[in-house]
Amino acid sequence: MRKPLIAGNWKMNGSLALLERFGSALSGSALSDRVDVALITPFPYLVPALQTFRDRSVGIGAQTLNPAPDGALTGEVSGPMLQDCGVRYVLAGHSERRTLFGENDQDVSMRVTAALAHGLTPILCIGETLEQRDANRVEEVVLSQVTTVFDTLEPAERHRVIIAYEPVWAIGTGRTATPEQAQAVHALIRQRLAEYDSTLATDMRLLYGGSMKPDNAGELLAQPDIDGGLIGGASLKPDDFLSICYAAG
Ligand code: G3H
Repeated sequence: MRKPLIAGNWKMNGSLALLERFGSALSGSALSDRVDVALITPFPYLVPALQTFRDRSVGIGAQTLNPAPDGALTGEVSGPMLQDCGVRYVLAGHSERRTLFGENDQDVSMRVTAALAHGLTPILCIGETLEQRDANRVEEVVLSQVTTVFDTLEPAERHRVIIAYEPVWAIGTGRTATPEQAQAVHALIRQRLAEYDSTLATDMRLLYGGSMKPDNAGELLAQPDIDGGLIGGASLKPDDFLSICYAAG
């Protein structure tokens, strides 16, 4: 039985005041038995978020990391630094990193490896563009994004990764994949994971991301291969985020 994970990715949004509102909304919500909850904040809010949720009822995650452990890389943040602060999750391969910051599959793979090396749980983001979907290339694109990373990992490392399927055309557009579309891709991913190891397929949490909101979360999360959500816009509104968490639990 896979425990659902609802992770809110604030992207480059948020404030200390918003964090305080989340602290009030989520603390004591008694969700943690049924659903894992995570907030993935910009770097400056990681330590305040860890202090707000020092009971660890909400896991805190970073949005990226540099694969190097340290060095003359002004502006970058490394895996050991995140680990040192108590951060639990880190995103790798979010489509905004791929398209706006030029990260390719190899960069993504290096980030997943670095995260694992420093005790972090990578959330590997994959997904096709609208152009690729229209050209019937969903399976090819998505499975290649999985295998590029997974082929480089040791079997035990693969079990520590979480995958988030985020069709690029559904991110921040209000256009959600239908539950059937999302389920179909999640099932394909799980089949591919089974080729590595059947327990990998049964154990791995596959999140859906892309305009998940309180009014569509229930249907998406009811799909057999959708084990949670990576939430962008709705993760900036504590009530909406909490509703999605309840829909998962
Ligand atoms: O990381 C989150 C995803 O990009 C989804 O964002 O919920 O605003 O569409 P969204």
